[in-house]
Amino acid sequence: MDRTCKPPGANPTWVCEVPLDGTLAVRTSPPGRSAFPSGDDRREGETIMKPRVFVSRMIPQEGLDIVLAACDAEVNADDRHLSQAELIDKVKGKEGLLCLLTDDINDAILGASPQLKVVANVAVGYDNIDVQAATRGKIIVTNTPGVLDDTTADFTWCLLVASARRLVEADRYLRAGKYTGWGIMLLCGEDIFGKTIGICGLGRIGRGVAKRARGFEMRILYTDAVRAPTEVERELGAQFVDKETLFREADFVTLHIPLLPQTHRYVSTKELMLMKKTAHLVNASRGPVVDETALVQALRERRIAGAGLDVYEHEPDMASGLVELDNVTLAPHIASASVDTRMKMAVMAATNLVEALQGRRPPNIVNPDVLS
Ligand SMILES: NC(=O)c1ccc[n+]([C@@H]2O[C@H](COP(=O)([O-])OP(=O)(O)OC[C@H]3O[C@@H](n4cnc5c(N)ncnc54)[C@H](O)[C@@H]3O)[C@@H](O)[C@H]2O)c1
Repeated sequence: MDRTCKPPGANPTWVCEVPLDGTLAVRTSPPGRSAFPSGDDRREGETIMKPRVFVSRMIPQEGLDIVLAACDAEVNADDRHLSQAELIDKVKGKEGLLCLLTDDINDAILGASPQLKVVANVAVGYDNIDVQAATRGKIIVTNTPGVLDDTTADFTWCLLVASARRLVEADRYLRAGKYTGWGIMLLCGEDIFGKTIGICGLGRIGRGVAKRARGFEMRILYTDAVRAPTEVERELGAQFVDKETLFREADFVTLHIPLLPQTHRYVSTKELMLMKKTAHLVNASRGPVVDETALVQALRERRIAGAGLDVYEHEPDMASGLVELDNVTLAPHIASASVDTRMKMAVMAATNLVEALQGRRPPNIVNPDVLS
């Protein structure tokens, strides 16, 4: 019997060595009992009750190991997205849930188990979780900030450079056999060095994007709900402006704000109309921050030069007409997808889960009110 399960295309070090019994879930130890009791103060033969948890999809082995050592874990080893009904069923009787941003953790799921103490998200954004409902139910919610900043900032720059220099279009051109020789006007794009970047949301990732912009000797504008401290502005050489000024003056607009009711469709026709015809929009935050239909129209009519997108308004679907456009660079939500960073995110989420279940304050709690 194959005793391993591995997400398709995953790095070989992510193999999860748990027995597969042909069903969706894998139990790693008898229900409620420790397979490997540990601790000096336990009497011989004593069984330790471990908290019951559900892991909604496969995660890198390093994170899974932490969960398996401390919990009676059921894992969705199929690594497929579960329906709401399946999630409700799996959460029943559990004290902990480790989930991914593809799981919509709503009131019904949070209410499926009266014992539920913690929901640990493997993402920095937690717009997939109804945090208010969790707080009402005294359920701790955690996220994974910090460990993905540089990886996400790097990828923002991948999209920016690819869009400005028409890299994907050029690749397609070559593969289609259209390249017959050097041409002085062939696939000319926009310069990046010395231009103006406009960063919406100068938080952890936004600051990483700004740091990289300094290497390109760019003028750095930013807008944010909260102005950054003067020393941060000075260190980054970033100038605070209002949203309208940023969209009007930037050659590259990059989005690093969380998805909140007030940031839904933060970029719509109005903002796109403000942008220069030569400007590019980059979104590696959350899809619904951009009105995707309005963006398709702006790109089609060449009202802006291009866009680089990692996220979509109705993921994994894309707005009608988007894929037909040659002035958009598309990525399947992979801004934080480096092997090292995904491992760190899994370890952080697993640590948050276990700390909460063992009665300690998890390091990355997003609703600390539940503890008061
Ligand atoms: N594409 C990906 O794979 C990926 C990876 C990591 C993070 N993200 C997204 O990026 C977001 C930012 O992550 P972060 O760690 O930098 O968060 P952060 O909290 O450090 O920074 C967010 C910034 O946005 C600002 N902000 C909040 N509301 C605003 C508003 N209404 N208008 C203007 N500014 C506002 C905040 O003040 C803050 O400075 C996350 O919420 C997540 O959704 C996406």
